[in-house]
Amino acid sequence: MHHFAYRRGVSHANVLHAEEVDLCALAAAVGTPFYCYSTATLERHYRVFAEAFAAHPGTLVCYSVKANSNLGVLATLAKLDAGMDVVSEGELRRALAVGVPPERIAFSGVGKTKEEMALALDAGIFAFNVESEPELRALSEVADARGRGARIAFRVNPDVDAKTHHKISTGKAENKFGVPFEQAVSLYRQAAKLPGILPVGIHMHIGSQITDLEPFRNAFVLLHDLGATLRTAGFAIEFVNLGGGLGIPYRHDEPAPPLPADYAALVNRAVGDLGVRLLFEPGRLIAGNAGILVSRVIYVKQGDKTFTIIDAAMNDLIRPTLYEAHHEILPVIEPMPGTRAVVTDVVGPVCETGDYLARGRPLPELHAGDLVSVMTAGAYGAVLASEYNSRLLVPEVLVSGSRYCVTRPRPSYDDMLAAERLPEWI
Ligand code: LLP
Repeated sequence: MHHFAYRRGVSHANVLHAEEVDLCALAAAVGTPFYCYSTATLERHYRVFAEAFAAHPGTLVCYSVKANSNLGVLATLAKLDAGMDVVSEGELRRALAVGVPPERIAFSGVGKTKEEMALALDAGIFAFNVESEPELRALSEVADARGRGARIAFRVNPDVDAKTHHKISTGKAENKFGVPFEQAVSLYRQAAKLPGILPVGIHMHIGSQITDLEPFRNAFVLLHDLGATLRTAGFAIEFVNLGGGLGIPYRHDEPAPPLPADYAALVNRAVGDLGVRLLFEPGRLIAGNAGILVSRVIYVKQGDKTFTIIDAAMNDLIRPTLYEAHHEILPVIEPMPGTRAVVTDVVGPVCETGDYLARGRPLPELHAGDLVSVMTAGAYGAVLASEYNSRLLVPEVLVSGSRYCVTRPRPSYDDMLAAERLPEWI
């Protein structure tokens, strides 16, 4: 469910709107390409997920900042009392900047530096997800030196197949993430003896865009067993962190992924009897369908194949190139009934064959100057953008009802050049 729909626009045609904002008018004001996020959609997704666990006391939903770290998006979620899952100093600073209470922040990632640990300890975050023995020792040193206790959950790698794209699967033994399941108990014993370390939770995250509940079921059985074993061994386990990963619909012609309520029922069956707090780290589920990328057609190039060349490219949205991801593309002005469909590659101006937003896609016939909207681009869109080909970073706009705010303006070319220095010897 999202709040992007065709409505009667300023120009009398049916125009795609973000909530009550006409995207033709917004494109005229902001220029293209731009990302556009819907507040109502972000709020709805957060609430649907949080409410699915309302019956479980103390549940903490930590939005995964990596999915979309725009300050407007984070502030919207912070207002709803969301916690946050961060993976770097930058993400931690963003979460704190929008007023997320530190005791609602979890810190993940395989390569936290001592400086990052110190900052998070001084801020007083909820817990660290620890991914290796060397990381555990480093955290112990930092915490001890600062006279602080670091609350930790080991990220346990259950070696299950998440049945998702190989580049976003994280719970197999061959992936770099977490500690091996068989070593978990001995690591908890080791942790309990180290100064500054409080082993109070267990963490698992098996991958992203998971559209089948089976991998979660397999992983959570192991999580439950480990929780019960640690409890019996005398560890004061307060929470289990079940990660993120629940998939979202990207295509209209595929069955919808499981609903948060189905997922909640599964979680409850799997770990409910442990009697501990639950923590989640959803990213895509909250931000994915809450964002679009609006772009303008520059040329339509006809030949053996039709290429629709738009002003957004792989540097703005890399998911199709990197993960063969499918994003629906809609003309911003609704086509008249009976408009001819043309099979086309939708490509950007970047000098790479891999620069495409869609390939072999039947779309209503498009012309130079038309606006298109690349759907479901709210998660892992703008955050993965780069200046490749010296293209300016794409601006981000947050809409709420009939209002909008350019939360991240488009830089100027002067800004781009001013960010660099020339060496004095040239
Ligand atoms: N927790 C941890 C430890 C993670 O590594 C991730 C995602 C999440 C939570 C959030 O997962 P989500 O609920 O969003 O599925 N760039 C890729 C996705 C990378 C996911 C990385 N980790 C893409 O565009 O599909």
